[in-house]
Amino acid sequence: MKVGIVGAGMVGSSAGYALAMMGIASDIVFVDRNTGLAIAQAEDISHAVPFVSATTVIAGDYDALAGTRVVIIAAGVSQKPGESRLELLERNAAVFREVVAEVLRASPDAILLIASNPVDIMTQIATRLSGLPPQRVIGSGTILDTARFRSLVGRHLGIAPQSVHAYVLGEHGDSEVLAWSNARAGSVALRSFAEQVGKPLTEDDRRAIDDGVRNAAYKIINGKGATYYGIGAGLARIVKAIAQDQRDVLSVSIVTPRVADIEDVALSVPRIIGAAGVVADLFPDLDAEEHAALGRSAALLKERVESVKL
Ligand code: 2OP
Repeated sequence: MKVGIVGAGMVGSSAGYALAMMGIASDIVFVDRNTGLAIAQAEDISHAVPFVSATTVIAGDYDALAGTRVVIIAAGVSQKPGESRLELLERNAAVFREVVAEVLRASPDAILLIASNPVDIMTQIATRLSGLPPQRVIGSGTILDTARFRSLVGRHLGIAPQSVHAYVLGEHGDSEVLAWSNARAGSVALRSFAEQVGKPLTEDDRRAIDDGVRNAAYKIINGKGATYYGIGAGLARIVKAIAQDQRDVLSVSIVTPRVADIEDVALSVPRIIGAAGVVADLFPDLDAEEHAALGRSAALLKERVESVKL
């Protein structure tokens, strides 16, 4: 399994490192406008390989992407402190015009995995630019927010995040929706689980978790300028589901025909991921408030994406 990574900054290189650590890819190819950076990242990561796996890590130009099954696109600029993901739109849309065409010229059968922010809109732009079916243009979406949600709930309950089944839906950004009403731990409804282990989830606890998930990136960016380890591992997790045809249910973003009464918009709901990309979309039962919030998130994304001229 050969994986391409366009954009060798912190997100792209963290994804490459996570892929190498997880031993998922036989080959990883970095492409970046800054060739020296791509070469340095490839070399650094290749020095970690002897400790864990048998991955070949190189840097190259777009032609070196030939034969890749998945190409992660992490090119473009990232948020500065205080900047929202949506504010990056115009700058990253310009970058994608070139990148998507070059990637598909070199590797016409690849699945595109979009990481650049604002990721939902960049996913919709990449879908339009590529002409590919939406199932093959996957944005990392709320995979990371879902991980943050599971992690904070798990910490509150004193259990492993993997035992928490709870998803963040909608935009990967300020309007995202934490789907509390259908969250479970083990197979037990969250409220009941929390009471059974003597750690009830009060309104204040839920507000603190919501804030922790929604504002995680802002806090990290204030502290160290960028986020990358979490999303790097999330991207590697999506690649693993594709590489091994795992049929995992992950919250990722693709252009969706209809969600909460909004048509043709890229956002996250849980989706089954396998070798062909997204195999099926799942629409969880939501309470009225969550459903309305998902509708607002979808409407906001739709409005923004329609403002982008390609
Ligand atoms: C994150 O949520 C900034 O989108 C990036 O970590």
